[in-house]
Parts: sequence; structure tokens; C-alpha cells
Amino acid sequence: MKIGLIGAGNMATALARGWGDAVLVHDPDRSRAEALVEELGGEVVDSNAELAERANVLLLAHKPAGLERVAREIGGGAKGVISILGGVPLAALRAAYGTTPVVRMIPSVPVEVRQGVTCHARDAEAAAELEAQAVALFERVGLVVDLDEAQFEVATGLMSCAPAYVALVAEAQVDAGVRAGMPADVAGQLVAASMAGSAALLQARGMDTLAVRRMVTSPGGITARGLAALEHSGVRAAFDDAMQAVVAR
Ligand SMILES: NC(=O)c1ccc[n+]([C@@H]2O[C@H](COP(=O)([O-])OP(=O)(O)OC[C@H]3O[C@@H](n4cnc5c(N)ncnc54)[C@H](OP(=O)(O)O)[C@@H]3O)[C@@H](O)[C@H]2O)c1
Repeated sequence: MKIGLIGAGNMATALARGWGDAVLVHDPDRSRAEALVEELGGEVVDSNAELAERANVLLLAHKPAGLERVAREIGGGAKGVISILGGVPLAALRAAYGTTPVVRMIPSVPVEVRQGVTCHARDAEAAAELEAQAVALFERVGLVVDLDEAQFEVATGLMSCAPAYVALVAEAQVDAGVRAGMPADVAGQLVAASMAGSAALLQARGMDTLAVRRMVTSPGGITARGLAALEHSGVRAAFDDAMQAVVAR
């Protein structure tokens, strides 16, 4: 299946690196598309209309606000469209693309290292072949979860924003370690490995967060004191505020 990338920005680049295949790509910033081709092989295409002619399926990886403009540029020539546009529902995709089959997905940037999470919008009207191809494509770069579209905003706040949240928490932990006398590179190694290992342990324990916390928390011990300090500083409220900010979009 030949995929045409519409846009060569952050998400298109992460996906293309995860897939590792030669790319067929258009971006108004030609240098960005050229950088991707230089890295992975393939070809920069001069317009979205030409991309639609040459690709079996188009991946919409431009900004959400470009929906109508890009659909006009393609002019009905696409065979199938996979959209990763944040906050753009299937109804809006259908309104823009008419009878062209569409699939809606939301990935996360760890697709670049094939450990992404991608939410796939369940769709009774979907073209079965395109849907199966899209799911198989994203399964190559991580986990794919089927969801009702109504849950997409909450899902976005949990998985698509997650790499930024995790990076912020990791940075805060490293800074705290540096303040307490640890070199930043060693602190970073300890924090990243601990995050990966803790995530694996939580999954192995069926996301029983309390059981994992109890494993580390002796009565009156240092972890109990550390956890109390985090609660006191409002860690739960901070994540709840972040989710409310996302779903209020
Ligand atoms: N980043 C994430 O973690 C993430 C996660 C899930 C979904 N998404 C979705 O993925 C999409 C891209 O996000 P991003 O973070 O990769 O944004 P980005 O880095 O800004 O990339 C978008 C690219 O599309 C280009 N573009 C604009 N108009 C175009 C056109 N008519 N034809 C072809 N390319 C065009 C942009 O060029 P200019 O800059 O010159 O306009 C830019 O290079 C968004 O819809 C976003 O909601 C992103």
C-alpha cells in the first residue's frame, strides 16, 4: 500500500520513522519534505492533487484548520483518507471528502519508536478494507485501541498529550535530583528507566495502581513521605485540571 503523507511535520515524521518505509510526501515547506526523503528515501511530490493520484491512501497530517483547504486541493481524487487531525470528527471529514472513504485515528509520538498508542474511531459507515488497512498500518508502530468517537477527546488527553506530560514530570524529577546533588545525565537515566519499568509492572499487574504503590510504600517510610508531599502539592488536581483543559477545547 502506497501512503501519501500530507504534511511533513512532527507527527508525519514520527510515523514515517516508525514505519521505516520510503515516503511519498507533500508539504508547502518543501525543505521539511526533503529532509524526510533524505532520511527515509522516497519522493517529494509537488501538490496534494498529484499525491492523491499516486498514493493508494492519503494520511492527513497537516493542522486541523487546513481541513477544507486540503480537501479542495485534492479535489475528490483520493482513493482513501486516514485522518489524524486532532479534534476533527468523522462528520466533518465526510463533509469535506464526500464519498471518499475516511478513517479517523489519533496516534501518539512514541510511534517513532514503535511504542505508540493509536485510538481508532469505531465507525458503522466505514469502508471495511480501508479500515483494516489503517488498523494494520498503525499496529506496526504500537498498540491500536478501538473507541467510540464520543470518547476521543478524553482519550486524546490521556494518550496523545501523554508524551509531553511524561517529559514534564521526568524533567521535574531530574531537576529535583540535580538540586539534591545528582548529575543530570545519571538522574535522567534513573528516571527514564524507572518510568519504563514502572509502566511495564503496572501493565503486568493489570493496572492495579494501589498494589504497586503498596509494594514500594513501607509504613512511615521514605516513599510514604514522598507520596504525601506529592499529594500535598496537588498532583491529582494538576492532572485533573489538564484533562479539563483538553476536553473543554
Ligand atoms: N503532534 C502530536 O503529538 C499529534 C498527535 C496526534 C495528532 N496530531 C495531529 O497531527 C496533525 C499534525 O500535527 P503536527 O504536530 O505534526 O503539526 P506540524 O508539526 O505543524 O505539521 C503539520 C505540517 O503540515 C504542513 N501543511 C500545512 N498545510 C499543508 C498543505 N496544504 N498540504 C500539506 N502539508 C501542509 C505544515 O506546513 P506549515 O508549517 O508550513 O503550515 C507542517 O509542516 C495535526 O492535525 C494534529 O492535530 C498530532
